[in-house]
Amino acid sequence: MAHDIIQMLTEDHREVEQIFGQLEKTPESNHEERRRLIDQAIIELVRHSVAEEEYLYPAARRYIPDGDEIVDHELSEHHQAEQTMKKLERNDPSEPQFNQLLLELMREIREHVRDEENELFPRLRTHADRDTLVALGDKAAGAKASAPTRPHPSAPSEHPGLLKMLAPGVGLVDRARDAVSGRGR
Ligand SMILES: [Fe+2]
Repeated sequence: MAHDIIQMLTEDHREVEQIFGQLEKTPESNHEERRRLIDQAIIELVRHSVAEEEYLYPAARRYIPDGDEIVDHELSEHHQAEQTMKKLERNDPSEPQFNQLLLELMREIREHVRDEENELFPRLRTHADRDTLVALGDKAAGAKASAPTRPHPSAPSEHPGLLKMLAPGVGLVDRARDAVSGRGR
């Protein structure tokens, strides 16, 4: 059975939750591992946000009767979480506020996951037909394939050239967003 966009995005949610679980298990003193995990979470979350903004939310606006209201709320949550991620990318895990920011991000994302899985996803499934959801899943999967896999452009990359082409000095959140949305190419 083909994968639809809701199944795909739900899997993303589980993947992010798994990274959060690893972060919670990693001792605060292990700065290197915490940096690696938070960068991985940021890339995954930005990629997920772009997929939702480009494919899910336009469909939600179109098919769900009060979709505009739901989507506007989701977008403000994305914006909020992105601000927290930008603070995290600039903060070192050795700094005291890092943990505070990490807890804030986890709270914001868990709320986002609850909102979507309890409200937006079931309602979209009710109002949009399965073929539409599968077609959107295919498009979103294509966008996922172009996402960067390594957080730092200096690190050996499985996708050489992708992050390198983006402006140096730009933060991880913006670089990941540009790479995924194709704006940096
Ligand atoms: Fe989501």
